[in-house]
Amino acid sequence: MTTRPVGLTRDLPAGRVMHAQADGKDMVVWRATDGTIAAWDNRCPHRGMALSHGFVRGNRLACLYHGWHYDRSGRCGLIPAHPDLEPPATIHATQYGVVETGGVIWVSADEAPAPDDSDLAPLRSFIVEASEDALRDAQEATSADGAPPAPEASDRVSVLCNPIEPGRTQVTVLTAPGLPLPRLRTLSRWCEAMRRQAEAKETA
Ligand code: FES
Repeated sequence: MTTRPVGLTRDLPAGRVMHAQADGKDMVVWRATDGTIAAWDNRCPHRGMALSHGFVRGNRLACLYHGWHYDRSGRCGLIPAHPDLEPPATIHATQYGVVETGGVIWVSADEAPAPDDSDLAPLRSFIVEASEDALRDAQEATSADGAPPAPEASDRVSVLCNPIEPGRTQVTVLTAPGLPLPRLRTLSRWCEAMRRQAEAKETA
């Protein structure tokens, strides 16, 4: 599995849970109260409930259904209906690799995802109801049309794609760090124009 960007660090504060998809895999990404992050298969080992509906309790993720708690390593540490029972070590969420660089959360089926290091800053992460090809075409078209004003070389815009399913792409846009707010707003409008064009092309 390729390393894929699935969201922005700022969108996943401590104690929060996020649903993510990459390369056909359904995932839960969550951050413990100590700030550490984990990415797992989005199925509770008990009866398969989506763990992305769960909630963080300290440094554990609790399943919404029967409340089983899983620690950062994925191992079950508490079964509320049997609080005195030591859960067997075999009860374990399936882990994926996860790393954060430059304000972006990356996941991989490999243990240690290693995306390119970059000094760019995250602008936006959003879903486009279109393929990556349509998105790339729209990226070129909006640049050519210049309305809203297309990115300039000094913006150092980078568009990352995570094709989560046919006709659906998660897009992460990075820019040069320290751009003034008006420029960031303009680039955000450009992102919207790109999204609209890609979706229009997809449905045409
Ligand atoms: S399905 Fe998750 S605790 Fe039962």
